[in-house]
Amino acid sequence: MAKKSGKKGGGSRNVTDARGARVRVKTARGRKLSSTLWLERQLNDPYVAEARRLGYRGRAAFKLAEIDDKHNLLKPGSRIVDLGCAPGGWTQVALQRCGSGARVVGIDLLECDPIPGAVLMTGDFMDDDAPDRLKSALGGQADIVLSDMAANTTGHPKTDHLRIVALVETAYAFAQEVLAPGGAFVAKVFSGGTEGSLLNVLKLDFERVFHMKPPSSRKESPEMYVVALGFRRKDDNQDG
Ligand SMILES: C[S@@+](CC[C@H](N)C(=O)[O-])C[C@H]1O[C@@H](n2cnc3c(N)ncnc32)[C@H](O)[C@@H]1O
Repeated sequence: MAKKSGKKGGGSRNVTDARGARVRVKTARGRKLSSTLWLERQLNDPYVAEARRLGYRGRAAFKLAEIDDKHNLLKPGSRIVDLGCAPGGWTQVALQRCGSGARVVGIDLLECDPIPGAVLMTGDFMDDDAPDRLKSALGGQADIVLSDMAANTTGHPKTDHLRIVALVETAYAFAQEVLAPGGAFVAKVFSGGTEGSLLNVLKLDFERVFHMKPPSSRKESPEMYVVALGFRRKDDNQDG
């Protein structure tokens, strides 16, 4: 069965060796080929099976666990904002690793079933009132702002790219307002990594900036994550 590889309790494991015999799904009347292929991929994905076994709401949970294993961001009692939180895997890992003193506030376009210890709201993060809703639920500064938001693709590459960039930039503009000194920002970005202009700002605002493709992120997916650690508040920057 799966070996434990993470240094922390909840989450990341070496699940690649949990593969069994490959399951094949026959095409069925009324089911599109894309749905058959999706079903086959789900049934053969060891992360899907392991997420179910551990009670995670989705395989995405492993991505945050793996990012944390590498960069050690989730600390006891952390105050965390989880942007694009549904169905809730990242929130589960954050609460598990940060303990009962942690506070997690999340938002998603889709309704997320409640998770004890978290405040999860439904709404569009890009709406004007979303930042204030999140801030009042947080009741103070955040130690970590996470964004796993992904816009639905339109099939028009330029439009898709612009939407993705807008989500990450808006997530970071929010993070600049709420992060406490020393805080962290983690966001999903695509293909070439963080856009040049945002990367430049992150390098100024944080002590360390990395890109990471967690092992559980599907190889064929262009997603990766930018991980920025050691936030310097604007006032700190101005003071030199
Ligand atoms: C990959 S899923 C997140 C999975 C989540 N991290 C987990 O572990 O369960 C991406 C989520 O981003 C959400 N999303 C995309 N655009 C959004 C927006 N403008 N505001 C809020 N949520 C958004 C989607 O609804 C979707 O649920």
